[in-house]
Amino acid sequence: MTEKMAIYKCNVCGNIVEVINPGVGELVCCNVPMELLSEKSSDEEFQEKHVPVISTENDTKTIRVGSIPHPMEKEHYIMFIEAISKDGKYITRKYLNPHEEAKMEFKINPQDEFTARELCNIHGFWSSEK
Ligand SMILES: [Fe+2]
Repeated sequence: MTEKMAIYKCNVCGNIVEVINPGVGELVCCNVPMELLSEKSSDEEFQEKHVPVISTENDTKTIRVGSIPHPMEKEHYIMFIEAISKDGKYITRKYLNPHEEAKMEFKINPQDEFTARELCNIHGFWSSEK
């Protein structure tokens, strides 16, 4: 059984997919089950920092990846940053390329709450939720 907004990766070809509508079937790519990328929220074991850091200025929210800026090199970079409203109805996502800053800004009602997530091409999926 999959879950809405879960992210899966094919460890053979590198396909990464997101579940829009959960089902009971197993996700398979290249004839092998896809790996569920579980959300991590503590990066004590890594030198680079991955947990999204959220700041607010007036009606603008900024999400940065890591308390120390994450590398953005061709071999190791943040693939996307996203914000999901607490009710799960709205997602804002920014896709990134190597050499761009691992940062996303967006406007939001200041009292609206959301969770930030990001995907590192080496170290996986990270969330601001504990
Ligand atoms: Fe990383």
